[in-house]
Amino acid sequence: MTKKGKPGGPSGPDGGRRQLKVKVKTARKRSVSSARWLERQLNDPYVKAAKDEGMRSRAAYKLKEIDDKYRLLKPGMRVVDLGAAPGGWSQIAAEKVGAVSGEGQVIGIDYLDVEPLPGVTLLKLDFTDETAEAQLKALLRGGGADLVLSDMAAPTVGHTRTDHLRIMALAEAAAHFAVDVLAPGGAFLCKVFQGGTERDLLDLLKQSFSVVRHVKPPASRSDSAELYVLATGFKGRRQDGISSE
Ligand SMILES: C[S@@+](CC[C@H](N)C(=O)[O-])C[C@H]1O[C@@H](n2cnc3c(N)ncnc32)[C@H](O)[C@@H]1O
Repeated sequence: MTKKGKPGGPSGPDGGRRQLKVKVKTARKRSVSSARWLERQLNDPYVKAAKDEGMRSRAAYKLKEIDDKYRLLKPGMRVVDLGAAPGGWSQIAAEKVGAVSGEGQVIGIDYLDVEPLPGVTLLKLDFTDETAEAQLKALLRGGGADLVLSDMAAPTVGHTRTDHLRIMALAEAAAHFAVDVLAPGGAFLCKVFQGGTERDLLDLLKQSFSVVRHVKPPASRSDSAELYVLATGFKGRRQDGISSE
């Protein structure tokens, strides 16, 4: 590993102030792509912030930034976090809704283990399991939620079309669950893929929510195809023919 100054470094326009950047060399057992990944991690301010602030994930800052802008999380809310591991979004949600004091409620689900988080109820289960939605509902106070979050992503296979289809299938399942479980006025935030949300999914959301928009928080890497769809102002079920079926 070597260190170098950023462009315009020692003799540059910033008057010699150096910002050290970690550079990773490929070792015999490290491929170019893994060296590149490691270098990006080591120089990523969000990775550093997550470490310094005790956040479970870099992804936590995506929810934080979206919430800073759209004010989704409020004290007392019931939140479901789909694809919760390692727990960053649940952590942010629990803090904002007051889940530790029991004021609000956060339920996270993932097929991977999530280390226990104060105030968060965790379900280790595949969301596409046929019992998952009923189990989540049974855990929710009053059976309903005020906010459904989904950062679910299946492991990518590197084939763009396949990866897109898999992530959109998860987004669609999450949206149907949201329409089924949200209380009127509730909101849904879900990871999708660049190129936007599929027509059917967008139609369901537009029919069921007052406002539907795509958001890309600064913490979401600009070179990533990741995007979020944010639907707010849930209109309620079976009203004007709205149904998730
Ligand atoms: C990007 S990570 C979520 C990061 C999380 N928001 C955080 O801040 O820590 C995506 C997660 O979705 C989970 N996931 C993908 N498909 C799932 C499924 N069918 N059921 C449950 N979890 C799933 C993965 O296991 C993974 O942990």
